[in-house]
Amino acid sequence: MSERVIKVGLCGFGVVGQGVFNYLRSRQDLLSDRIGARLEVSRIAVRDTKKKRDFDYDESMLTTDPLSIATDPEVDVVCELMGGTGVALDVSIAALEAGKILVTANKALLCDHGEAVFAAAKRGGGQLFFEASVAGGIPVIKALKDSLVVNRFSSIYGILNGTSNYILTRMTNEGATYQEILTEAKALGYAEADESLDVDGIDAAHKAVVLAYLAHGRWVPFKDLLVEGVSEVTQDDIQFAKDNGYAVKLLAVIDVAHASGKLYISILPTLVSKKTSLGSVDGVFNAVSIHGDVVGETVYIGPGAGRDATASSVIADIVDGAKLLVNGGAETFVDPAPRGGDAIELAEPEEIESRYYVRLQVLDKPGVMAEVASLLASHKVSLASVTQKEVGEGAESATLIVTTHMTNEKAILDSVKSLAESPSVTAKPFCMPISGIEK
Ligand code: NAP
Ligand code: HSE
Repeated sequence: MSERVIKVGLCGFGVVGQGVFNYLRSRQDLLSDRIGARLEVSRIAVRDTKKKRDFDYDESMLTTDPLSIATDPEVDVVCELMGGTGVALDVSIAALEAGKILVTANKALLCDHGEAVFAAAKRGGGQLFFEASVAGGIPVIKALKDSLVVNRFSSIYGILNGTSNYILTRMTNEGATYQEILTEAKALGYAEADESLDVDGIDAAHKAVVLAYLAHGRWVPFKDLLVEGVSEVTQDDIQFAKDNGYAVKLLAVIDVAHASGKLYISILPTLVSKKTSLGSVDGVFNAVSIHGDVVGETVYIGPGAGRDATASSVIADIVDGAKLLVNGGAETFVDPAPRGGDAIELAEPEEIESRYYVRLQVLDKPGVMAEVASLLASHKVSLASVTQKEVGEGAESATLIVTTHMTNEKAILDSVKSLAESPSVTAKPFCMPISGIEK
């Protein structure tokens, strides 16, 4: 009996698309043994058909019209690997409405249009897979939606952006500036086409929204998240972290407040103890720590970006989709939205407690330290430590680093705003939480 052929259409043939193409071809026999069907890339959509690619391929497969792949009756599995939320949304909706398997690595799309994309799948009978959208090669989507299905999730902490972690690690180990390292992260295929998504924390926020949906069944609007990236982290912050047993990490926090049961999501540069599992995750690696009330804490660590790691997750999804086609039946997606129940409420900044680190550039004159302390006190923020780097005779300004005792997010944001307005503060203050994670 001849083997069934499952046709795969690649919409996007860049870093990820070419990785998927490469391994679908080089591991074709292995995958065919494991699935009982042959996976064949039959069509590829790109913007520029003349661009040189890294692998040989049959140019007759090329099109500049990804929608034609999404609706092609000959294509069984559509991979949306273009990025963005314009054409990618049209392609995803069209493929799902046509009842196809859709595999996407696009977290921006899910964050902004998750509800519409899931609705299209329901309408058209299509199946949606998105393992590569969060944490690159780490199978964290599968863990959260399937393996941990019996749990309620009190907290999820994540290092979710490979580019940022790569930058912070090299700033720590080599003392280089973030711009120098960003150029290399781009060349390695880690960064988004628009790298501001990485360095401004937006990409990590997109991923946090996807994880929060799977954990709590609510698509939290991006505007309700507190989001900052790594672009303002300096060697002063890195040095403070080193001297005090911390690492600076871009940390996503998806927390349910114990007392109120409300949900809080932030993505912020954060001082994380080096003794914790997340504090020692370096380079392009991502890590996700999930606290489930039945299982306890589980931690997932692995490469969070790059061609091969991402292709590994995309191909896992293609195989899951192909197995449905071979064996019949539909993906048993457990809808995380509470049935008939109210959506989880979002916490107010007053309800979020942490210690904080604040770096200030201040006039080097008598009385400034007292002024800073009194301004913080006016917001009921109490100092835990104050460090001023020694400055030369005649210097006009000095770097002042303060840490606080436990306070709340509103108090610290108000304090930083007041500090920024003070005539004694000469540059925009930089502030980050000091994580309470202990393990
Ligand atoms: P990329 O290298 O920029 O590749 C994008 C591909 O899509 C290119 O081949 C481009 O064509 C094609 N494309 C874009 N718009 C198109 C359009 N309107 N019509 C036809 N083709 C179009 O991006 P990438 O790094 O592979 O990322 C792809 C997706 O995977 C994004 O959603 C990204 O967030 C996600 N992702 C990336 C990584 C990673 O490590 N890079 C990891 C996880 C998830 P041309 O080549 O002709 O320009
Ligand atoms: N630009 C992303 C990152 C790719 O650096 O994490 C993986 O989603």
